[in-house]
Amino acid sequence: MTDAAPIDSLRAAAFSVMARAYAPYSRFRVGAALATADGKVFTGCNVENASFGAAICAERAAVLAAVAHGERRFASLVIASDATASVAPCGICRQVLAEFAPSLEIFSFTAAGAESHRTLDQLLPAPFTSNFLPRS
Ligand code: THU
Repeated sequence: MTDAAPIDSLRAAAFSVMARAYAPYSRFRVGAALATADGKVFTGCNVENASFGAAICAERAAVLAAVAHGERRFASLVIASDATASVAPCGICRQVLAEFAPSLEIFSFTAAGAESHRTLDQLLPAPFTSNFLPRS
């Protein structure tokens, strides 16, 4: 018996939140559903800005929502998009995810049926971590 949220329900949540993406500039909508170790689910979508660099990705939006609700232990992330190939999270999102879950299971689906499954340590084998910081 596992507490993990089933991938099918995470997939549905990711596609559902993808519909709320605010992406008037790229027209590229992404949704993310992040499952905690005890089965709660937090979602996020990409939110763009007229100042393009201020855009936030769906994956980070989901992490921020979870952390703001007191959650820091994550089991899996599901990404949804209507791209041609399943989306891999960007480098900044990989680094943000690695802060909390360096071995996170990451599934990615497209509306057309493409899918992929990798772990975060496959995608980001050498993250910057607090171990590099000087001890105070
Ligand atoms: N984007 C995400 O939300 N997640 C990804 O994994 C890749 C890119 C967003 C950022 C921007 O709003 C749009 O997709 C185009 O880069």
